[in-house]
Amino acid sequence: MLKEREYLETIINQIICGDAIEELKKIPNGSIDLVITSPPYFHQRDYGSEMLGIGNEKTLDEYLNNLIKVFRECQRIIKPSGSIVFNLGDKYEKGSLLLVPYRFAIKAIQETNVKLINEVTWVKLNPTPRQDPKKLVPAKEPFFIFAKSNNYYFNKECFLGPADSRRTKSKRAGENIGKKYFDQINDSNLSDEQKKLAKSELLKAISEVKSGRIDSFRMKIRGIHSMPYGGQNGGRKSHLEKDGFTIIKISGNSIKKDIIECPVETIRGNIHPAVYPEFIIQQFFKLLTKRGDMVLDPFIGSGTTAVVAKRMGRNFIGIEINQKYCLYARQRIDNLCEGSDLEFV
Ligand SMILES: C[S@@+](CC[C@H](N)C(=O)[O-])C[C@H]1O[C@@H](n2cnc3c(N)ncnc32)[C@H](O)[C@@H]1O
Repeated sequence: MLKEREYLETIINQIICGDAIEELKKIPNGSIDLVITSPPYFHQRDYGSEMLGIGNEKTLDEYLNNLIKVFRECQRIIKPSGSIVFNLGDKYEKGSLLLVPYRFAIKAIQETNVKLINEVTWVKLNPTPRQDPKKLVPAKEPFFIFAKSNNYYFNKECFLGPADSRRTKSKRAGENIGKKYFDQINDSNLSDEQKKLAKSELLKAISEVKSGRIDSFRMKIRGIHSMPYGGQNGGRKSHLEKDGFTIIKISGNSIKKDIIECPVETIRGNIHPAVYPEFIIQQFFKLLTKRGDMVLDPFIGSGTTAVVAKRMGRNFIGIEINQKYCLYARQRIDNLCEGSDLEFV
């Protein structure tokens, strides 16, 4: 045990070049706060490893069994307050979806003692176009959050805060925010004076959303919308009667949904074919870890998990079977400024 603890000290903030299962076995029980990873998908890519990389098994059952072996080790090494996040992609075989991620998640909860806390869906804003005229383009992937006790750390407030939501929506909604209300003010029976005031207050609310002071707002215009709070007496009703409109500003405590919308990221000079977005990993760190915690990625590829950890003041351990990717991940980490995203908790 002492040896294992001593060993752990030597691999903190390192990328280990080796096989996930073998390397995980050397890590002591209950020593990691978060395991987060995207294992190789089934029959998707050749990562060029000379050793037997996961994903190239002959059958789906063999693949799932190998993944579960890794998963069991992850379950062993996390603390009682810890969690495991696995991101998996699906696969068509003979024209039919295999539902690989769900088969894995079901197997994990049936065969180990974990709880499945959430399936967070990554909605890809720029999915890879596919040519099949008789299929829609797959544009989502699950990230499963598992915990091993009811005591898991979960900082919901920090997940997808106002600045993050704006970033994910900026391309689609940024320019259009509140736009419909201008048309509705024009179409309303408000006096010219009231219309002028309504537009100027609307512009103020839009700029508050854009600067992050509020999350969003709703506008109620007399004769266009239903009365706020069912028309009960109060400040809003009298505002509506006097000025012809009212603006309800919404900040904090927004509903935290199990969806992350963001594009597939491109990194200059990247040599890895399947990099997951730093933005998503950032959100999971905010949700599931504190500054100084230990995160581990058993299939670290180009090093994204470590990059985000270093920026956000978390410690990391990365495992990768392919030497070329190990070197690339180390380079990415060395070129970073430690703690450059320390405004995050
Ligand atoms: C989907 S990629 C991970 C990409 C990573 N999330 C990133 O952002 O770069 C999976 C990685 O697992 C590696 N891999 C495959 N079998 C492995 C094994 N048995 N042990 C460790 N790594 C393995 C592959 O070489 C590949 O780089």
